[in-house]
Amino acid sequence: EKGGWSSFMAKEISEQPEAVANTLRTRIHDDHVVLPDLAGLEDSLAGIDRIVIIACGTASYAGMLGKYAIEKWARIPIEVQLSHEFRYSEPVLSPTTLVVSISQSGETMDTLMAVKYAIEAGAKTLSICNTQGATIARESDAVIYTHAGPEVAVASTKAFVAQIAALYLFGLHLAEVRGTLSAEATKEALGELSSIPGKLEQVLLTKERIQELAKWMSDSRAVLFLGRHVGYPVALEGALKLKELAYIHAEGFAAGELKHGPIALIEPGQPVFVVVPSPRDPNSLHAKVVSNIQEIRARGARILAIAEQGDAAVLPFADEVIPIPLAGALFEPLLAVVPLQIFAMELATAKGLDVDQPRNLAKSVTVE
Ligand code: F6R
Repeated sequence: EKGGWSSFMAKEISEQPEAVANTLRTRIHDDHVVLPDLAGLEDSLAGIDRIVIIACGTASYAGMLGKYAIEKWARIPIEVQLSHEFRYSEPVLSPTTLVVSISQSGETMDTLMAVKYAIEAGAKTLSICNTQGATIARESDAVIYTHAGPEVAVASTKAFVAQIAALYLFGLHLAEVRGTLSAEATKEALGELSSIPGKLEQVLLTKERIQELAKWMSDSRAVLFLGRHVGYPVALEGALKLKELAYIHAEGFAAGELKHGPIALIEPGQPVFVVVPSPRDPNSLHAKVVSNIQEIRARGARILAIAEQGDAAVLPFADEVIPIPLAGALFEPLLAVVPLQIFAMELATAKGLDVDQPRNLAKSVTVE
């Protein structure tokens, strides 16, 4: 079943272009998002005034990315909560709240219990799910299936990019319902989304280079990941992948937070992955992140930058630059996460570990 691949994880990483393409397929027509999937919410969608996204682990990072995109496009307040924390905060829910759950398996008990809580509180529910007919999908008012295909490796990869694609489709649809995005901007975003599978193919070509890097770094004791705005969830995801697969202490930080504490961790030789925003970023975050790189480099950090192709400003300060193709700011995470997935997998492999079945973990967490 692995085909010629060394692991399910390697196979699933390579399947990411199809995972996104299949999730988009049939859902974009004439520069509009078409989601018959939402029939169960048809009457209520226009009246929704708030969204709460619930998920665990990697799916929660997809949720964070959903927040940036959907808030921007549909101008609706969104909060992202870990499913297992959700109920205990006595969340304020009403019939005009939409609770969006994200789950690859659709069986994660923490997320299922959170969805049930939301239903009892009278909120509307939408699930983003990769498994046909899963419990969470059945419980929800509507479901947008990600069509990533079965994910076997414990570590989530292709389901993650498919979840982002599904959330973005939903966000663009909601923006149309709410009339918050011009036809031109919608068209541009759909063009960006449709170009992701081809760009993912290009990012996958960096594999051998990352393999070398991982081999070289296989005795690292701790690795840090920095990102800003949409690069922040990517940093969190890079750190999670490294912990779970390579058993290396790893932390993801919002780069702006460095000076509020984490910079104290930087000592000579400390490897730091930095997800660099595009120099074309409309928020001008590029310069700020480059200046973070300079700060930690001055303290001896070893900088591994994930940066847009041709980003010359990063070159003088980075020990290693992994290029990603040009994409709109909100779409960069779909590309930038891939080298980090490969890095964690290759480092675990270099340490002789089982990448498909990391210790202490199960694919689907069906207990609370
Ligand atoms: C990380 C990973 C987990 C899952 C989390 C949620 O690689 O796989 O963090 O993302 O357990 O699982 P689902 O999406 O099945 O609810």
